[in-house]
Amino acid sequence: MSAVKTAVFPVAGFGTRFLPATKAMPKVLFPIVDRPLIQHAVDEAAACGIENFVFVTGRGNSAIEDYFDVSFELESMLRAGGNSHIAASLERLRPGPGQVAYVRQIDPLGLGHAVWCARNTIGDEPFAVLLADELILSDTPDLATMIELHADLGGNLVLVDEVAADETDQYGIITPGRDVNGAIEVTDIIEKPELGTAPSNLALIGRYILDPTIMTTLETTATGRGGEIQLTDALLASIGALPFHAVRTTGRRFDCGSKVGFVAATMHAALDRDDMREDVQRMINELYKHQIPDTGHQIPEG
Ligand code: UTP
Repeated sequence: MSAVKTAVFPVAGFGTRFLPATKAMPKVLFPIVDRPLIQHAVDEAAACGIENFVFVTGRGNSAIEDYFDVSFELESMLRAGGNSHIAASLERLRPGPGQVAYVRQIDPLGLGHAVWCARNTIGDEPFAVLLADELILSDTPDLATMIELHADLGGNLVLVDEVAADETDQYGIITPGRDVNGAIEVTDIIEKPELGTAPSNLALIGRYILDPTIMTTLETTATGRGGEIQLTDALLASIGALPFHAVRTTGRRFDCGSKVGFVAATMHAALDRDDMREDVQRMINELYKHQIPDTGHQIPEG
């Protein structure tokens, strides 16, 4: 099985783009219809053989701990009320005893800092990092492909997607080198380059397999773009010392850190469900007619 057994989920960001909702609720608990973003990420990791789940949390994130805990009262009441199947489904969703750890970032000083905060739970093994606000839907998770490739390539491995030229300033962007065994060698990386200066349109999209030495590199990584300790700066510093490759996603990606991406993911999930598709389609047509009455356009049925 997989040599990568531990995944880190940094969830301590402020979620500024979703204020005021994120004042009292972590962004990763926002549901895509009825399943929180963090559940999608944990399921994805579990499907790839991950056994240890490390959440890097911050202030106001205790709801995440509650979410992955047993809800004794609720589950007993469900069972007593003849809804044992719902209680059983909740049980199946959470990692088992001892599989979950929480570390506190205390100050959200950036993604690199969040990853570094998990250093004592990692040991000397390569580990995965998943940003749960990037929802990636596919039959075979990209992470599984990454873990397989990492066994051959070693070093650091990132997942990338092509983004529009006017979006490159929102992502870490790689400079691609030669193709190696289905991956792309990365020769340079820059965090959120100014528009018009990006070396490519291949953007980091929140899935990483990292060599454990990244923790030592992060230790001395200076504050970078946006006044934050950037994971991309530590990856850049590792070039030359370690192999560094990228894999293109084969999935359908929704950037749920942005409002439009979140709404798109929700609509997609609803339209994908047999129990919702027809009603949601009808609702969209109704809304469309009322919101944009002058155009005469209507979303086609089906
Ligand atoms: P984002 O850059 O999307 O930041 O972080 P954010 O705080 O979630 O959202 P905005 O930009 O303020 O709206 C990417 C991921 O890294 C985590 C976030 O929780 C998110 O999962 N993160 C970021 C941390 O855990 N700690 C940090 O200091 C920064």
